[in-house]
Amino acid sequence: MRAYQVQTPNGIEDIKQVELPEPNLAADEVLVNMKACSLNFRDLLVPVGGYVRNDVRPIIPVSDGAGEIVAVGDAVKNLKAGDRVVGNFFQDWVSGPMGIAGLHSALGGSINGTLSDYFVLKAHAALPIPEQLSYEEAATLPCAAVTAWHALVSLGNLRVGDTILLLGTGGVSIIALQLSKALGANVIITSSSDEKLEWARNMGAEHTVNYRQHPDWEKEVLKITDGNGVHNVLEVGGVGTFEKSIASAKVNGIVSMIGLLTGAEGPAFNLAVIFNLLRIHGIYVGSVEMFKAMNQVITEHGIKPVIDKTFSFSESMDAYRYLAAAKHFGKVVIVNDR
Ligand SMILES: NC(=O)c1ccc[n+]([C@@H]2O[C@H](COP(=O)([O-])OP(=O)(O)OC[C@H]3O[C@@H](n4cnc5c(N)ncnc54)[C@H](OP(=O)(O)O)[C@@H]3O)[C@@H](O)[C@H]2O)c1
Repeated sequence: MRAYQVQTPNGIEDIKQVELPEPNLAADEVLVNMKACSLNFRDLLVPVGGYVRNDVRPIIPVSDGAGEIVAVGDAVKNLKAGDRVVGNFFQDWVSGPMGIAGLHSALGGSINGTLSDYFVLKAHAALPIPEQLSYEEAATLPCAAVTAWHALVSLGNLRVGDTILLLGTGGVSIIALQLSKALGANVIITSSSDEKLEWARNMGAEHTVNYRQHPDWEKEVLKITDGNGVHNVLEVGGVGTFEKSIASAKVNGIVSMIGLLTGAEGPAFNLAVIFNLLRIHGIYVGSVEMFKAMNQVITEHGIKPVIDKTFSFSESMDAYRYLAAAKHFGKVVIVNDR
């Protein structure tokens, strides 16, 4: 089968296309013919060794994949050949709190991922694709959408009327916008681009702030919220935005620590966390249970994830470069043309 492999820590230009034998199946696994996979910012970090618990090489990259089951292991009873499935990011985090085994089961980081003609999933981590979604749309869900769900609902306990702050218009923020609107929240979203902000308003965002035109965007967030701040910030920015996200949160609010778009090394102490009784909470994608709960809401509300651009399998490296350029709005998808 065709596959891409990260063999060195030298970045995306050193990812190689290779021919590999089809993977063997354990009794509790299923073999999936990849129909589509989607890229995340993380897929730019794995090839430079910039990801925790990513010391495995060579490795097939990419966590997010959807496809059709072509074979099932001897012990698998709930799935069969022909089923449309999408894989959970962590193959061994099914429900409840994350355990250490779960941390070491991340597709495309600690174990082989989905950027190949066929990939293997644990049967307990292969979820049926919501009826209304194509393979391409389903492939956008495992990392970005489950992360957004975890922050908004599983941790954030989102209630109708809450105000959510989203940073930028990448994969996590745009599906978070869709989920927030479906669940009755108000959304403030930032971007470097007025055009992208207009698209976000068309999707229901109540308030938008251009963070290039307003480098002190947290002040704009406070103005919009009458000085109160927001219930939950989906903090995808890292060191360059963390202090501003803290300043944007209301008393008793949440800063969901998700990302590192601007870098990962920075200040660790901020008195506002104490005086505003904030909850600063690390989010690391999510469990199968969270993914299933999210899929129910996606189905009930007919949510269609936003795909910016699709590439064919042989154009995968162009897809990586396109993601790295950060021109996208929502998700970048690779389709298996075989
Ligand atoms: N903890 C987890 O489980 C988890 C899961 C998923 C993602 N993440 C992390 O979350 C971050 C976002 O991931 P993603 O896949 O959504 O990334 P992405 O799609 O690559 O997001 C790119 C977008 O981020 C925005 N951005 C860049 N710098 C920004 C800044 N200073 N302020 C505000 N927005 C900025 C830009 O939006 P505009 O073009 O609109 O300016 C850019 O287009 C990454 O660091 C990723 O590693 C973590």
